[in-house]
Amino acid sequence: MSTPFYQINSQEAYDKAYQNSTQNPEMFWESIAETFKWKKRWTQVLESDFIKPDVKWFVNGELNITENCIDRHLENQGNKTAIIWEPNNPNDEVRSYSYAELAKEVNKFSNILKENGITKGDRVCIYLPMIPEAAFAMLACARVGAIHSVVFAGFSAKALSDRIIDAEAKMVITSDGLVRGTKKLLLRNIVADAVQNCPSIQTVLTVKHTGDNVNTNHLDVWYHEAYEKASEAFEAETMNSEDELFILYTSGSTGKPKGVVHTTGGYMVYADYSFRNVFQYEGDDVFWCTADVGWITGHSYIVYGPLLAGSTCVMFEGIPTYPEPDRFWQVVEKHKVNQFYTAPTAIRALMACGDHHADKYEMDSLKVIGSVGEPINEEAWNWYNEKIGRGKAALVDTWWQTETGGIMISNLGKIGIHKATHAGLPLPGIQPVLLTAEGKLIEENNQEGLLAVKFPWPSMIRTTWGDHERCRQVYFSAFENHYFTGDGAKRDENGLYRIIGRVDDVINVSGHRLGTAEVENAINEHPQVIESAVVGYPHDIKGQGIYAYVICSETARKDDAMRKEMEAIVSDVIGRIAKPDKIQFVTGLPKTRSGKIMRRILRKIADGTSDSLGDVSTLLDPSVVDSIIEGKV
Ligand code: WTA
Repeated sequence: MSTPFYQINSQEAYDKAYQNSTQNPEMFWESIAETFKWKKRWTQVLESDFIKPDVKWFVNGELNITENCIDRHLENQGNKTAIIWEPNNPNDEVRSYSYAELAKEVNKFSNILKENGITKGDRVCIYLPMIPEAAFAMLACARVGAIHSVVFAGFSAKALSDRIIDAEAKMVITSDGLVRGTKKLLLRNIVADAVQNCPSIQTVLTVKHTGDNVNTNHLDVWYHEAYEKASEAFEAETMNSEDELFILYTSGSTGKPKGVVHTTGGYMVYADYSFRNVFQYEGDDVFWCTADVGWITGHSYIVYGPLLAGSTCVMFEGIPTYPEPDRFWQVVEKHKVNQFYTAPTAIRALMACGDHHADKYEMDSLKVIGSVGEPINEEAWNWYNEKIGRGKAALVDTWWQTETGGIMISNLGKIGIHKATHAGLPLPGIQPVLLTAEGKLIEENNQEGLLAVKFPWPSMIRTTWGDHERCRQVYFSAFENHYFTGDGAKRDENGLYRIIGRVDDVINVSGHRLGTAEVENAINEHPQVIESAVVGYPHDIKGQGIYAYVICSETARKDDAMRKEMEAIVSDVIGRIAKPDKIQFVTGLPKTRSGKIMRRILRKIADGTSDSLGDVSTLLDPSVVDSIIEGKV
């Protein structure tokens, strides 16, 4: 594989690229976009309005992203391995696909979609385990021009149906079952519950994976049956650069999850560019990202980024602790992984299981190890760096979001100052700023502020599905002419960014974003709950845990059985990831005179710092605070 000119491989190259990217951003991005396969060249690089917002990249360009992920590699590296699939059970067979085999699988899948009525612009929901068919399904959607909406297979039937309804998806692609560690879930049965309320669904396409008996009905098409008949040739649909590529639902601080929309051309350019640079991918390296395809990390760094770059990528079905807490390191050794990318929550969980699990393995193939999804605390950073990186692999702490499409702030492999808990400098092309709450630019270093971005980048969010106003309001209204991230950050004396965390009512549990309002709404569905307030609190493994304060009716039992009922409702409405870690029964909540819950106070009580509550005199009833502190669980 030849290394393209935009792979930045030294500090000097970084400095120069950064300078070019700010002096003439359009020229910078155009020169990168030129290296891809387009069906028609763009007439203008960028059209941008952050007020509406309305951002377009590579205007009027035409392409199909899968021709860039697959077809363009066939001539020179058709036999190179594209995907190595490592099953949940280490004794089961590994499945590998070369780029030529990937082409065949995706073409067949595309034909199956087409035969079942899927055409350009249709929405297809993907609810699959971490099996190669998940990647094929995403790519097949892109190849026929359908918009995929992947829903993490840990979400409940209710959460799935909400997402299907919002996107008006025509098809859902699932499997009979899923295995993770020793747990099994019959996904097709969950889909059966979900689609009862989804009139838009015309087909349920089911991949046979675990071989379990599942409920099927007139909507069903079995993938393996359709596969037998499907042709191996498929002409990729022509897409406009700004045609939607996918929707990915993510939580915000209010109401229901929103469908973040990414479009084709810009997302492609940035996924490839950020992948190559952050991970310094070269030659026949083997890259492994442990995320699930249900999250943005899986989209950009299991499927699109690695395949665009023509890399070899590991896809893992299982969990880090099965059958033993050495599974990650065993797989690194087995497939000679060169770049490894995971989440702080996994690092902390493995760290707690003892060093001997990692010490058993040489892991000398590792060159870059990455972290994503939540702030990585110093202890976990040091452990990851020493026990896994061993002074040889560079640790990259990558900051980004579903909305940004790709990594925004990070060291590029060994390039940059590697300082615990600091993500580092922005990638060339990215212009972050720190602002005060009043929107004043903070120019000095050694300051803390709200993190925003002042110039568009190719893979930024375009809209929220079906509700453009929400996109404007959430991301573009807080500070004029800026994209607001919702994160707070600090810049050190060298300009390195340290991400502090969310400043809105979003909590990050094991790297999964959840809105406090979403969890509250679920708890409130319990018939004996009058009101609830949910906050995050520091949790040793998960980063943040969920602490729920609940007011129940007088007749309610207020015991563990009642807690279990509320947990069950949350699992049903959202999924197990949203189950509260602690539930405290309270008789009142700290509210201002205008009825707003003072979450600041609840957060302090939950994290055990209630001795520094500050002024509570503006509360409607300051005495509730003492009674909540007394009842802390
Ligand atoms: C947080 C995940 C600290 C942040 C790619 C952001 C991080 C949210 C980091 C996005 C990091 C992500 N350090 N915090 N390296 N990476 N975050 O949309 O609060 O699932 O706003 O995207 O995760 O979560 P999302």
